[in-house]
Amino acid sequence: MALERTLAMIKPDAVAKDSIGNILALMEKSKLHIIAAKMVHLSMKQVQELYAEHQGKPFYEPLLQFMTSGPVMVQIVEGENAIQVLRDVMGATVPKDAEPGTIRNLYAEHEFNGVVHENAIHGSDSLESAKREIDFFFDASEICPRTR
Ligand code: RTP
Ligand code: MG
Repeated sequence: MALERTLAMIKPDAVAKDSIGNILALMEKSKLHIIAAKMVHLSMKQVQELYAEHQGKPFYEPLLQFMTSGPVMVQIVEGENAIQVLRDVMGATVPKDAEPGTIRNLYAEHEFNGVVHENAIHGSDSLESAKREIDFFFDASEICPRTR
């Protein structure tokens, strides 16, 4: 077991549905401690940088449109094995395949709109991407490690 930090992002679909509180509650129940948080309306350039790995894929352009369609809320969460714990509580990428009780099962639209899966939440997928994404969004002065 390792104490890790990872980046979580509540996506524009879930913000629009006022599911922020419910999603944060599921993270907290999973022993993920929020140590930084803010709301951001991402620019096209920011989303291109964040999702550079998907450039050229069929869903890339719709993904850019989706992720700039409204504000998101980003958090740094800390906990034992936080990267995997967050990915587990998020559920599978495609909401209709997400396990019961997961964030994507409960708070994302199961109906596929035929363009891009609007799936409520993003979580870093490795230690390396967690570090990169945390640095992308937060200055050291915005991080509040727990003292009690
Ligand atoms: P994320 O990066 O957002 O945490 O999601 P993920 O790891 O579970 O999935 P990834 O493969 O990295 O895909 C990034 C996001 O692109 C959208 N997507 N749509 N076929 C499709 O329509 C499709 N495939 C991917 C989703 O919003 C996914 O989260
Ligand atoms: Mg991903």
